[in-house]
Amino acid sequence: IHNFEQQNSILNKFIAELRDTTIQKDSMRFRKNIERVGEVLSYELSKSLQYQEHSITTPLGEKAIPLAASDIVICSILRAGLPFHQGILNYFDDAENGFISAYRHHENNSDDFEVIVNYFAAPNLEGKTLLLVDPMLATGRTLENVLKGLKDHGTPKQIHIVSVIGSTEGVDYVDAVFPKTTHLWIAAVDEKLNTKGYIVPGLGDAGDLAYG
Ligand code: PRP
Repeated sequence: IHNFEQQNSILNKFIAELRDTTIQKDSMRFRKNIERVGEVLSYELSKSLQYQEHSITTPLGEKAIPLAASDIVICSILRAGLPFHQGILNYFDDAENGFISAYRHHENNSDDFEVIVNYFAAPNLEGKTLLLVDPMLATGRTLENVLKGLKDHGTPKQIHIVSVIGSTEGVDYVDAVFPKTTHLWIAAVDEKLNTKGYIVPGLGDAGDLAYG
């Protein structure tokens, strides 16, 4: 797990604005801040990729520069994943892209829920670097179900989960169900989940705040 909240950086400002009830009413700013967190985490994540030297021709000569392999697939979970996806794509600009739907289904209005994953539009993942993108990691059950659904798309060589905010419980859950080689890049982790499975203090419902 790479948790960035303890390291003071400009990321704190984006997270503070995402959490703040007065500022988060501005949905355009909310989406922009999610996007900016995606950019910062992409930069951090990029340091863990494998690099190979490439010779670049400049107007005055040649320069060898280590570049990361372009085998990245960004798979985002709708809806809140959309602005986050854009932030990550801003940096990994030649990545392949996948979109997955997931929602919580509450039987008879109870607090208990089942996560339904029913739309998978993803390229082949065999031997590629998969970035699984969802701004919220509450119980971890969405990511667990998405991982199951992605099995038919091939086995990635490496999985990176990228998230804005999580709960300790969700982080532990994901750690237990994902392969041991998975990396988790997350901007903030809060202690609690309430009985409805929301992160406390968290930031609310990212899908609603971004898209109404
Ligand atoms: C939220 C969030 C995650 C999921 C996390 O989605 O964006 O996908 O819940 O919860 P979990 O870790 O407990 O599974 P939501 O169901 O609110 O959908 P939305 O993004 O379309 O609003």
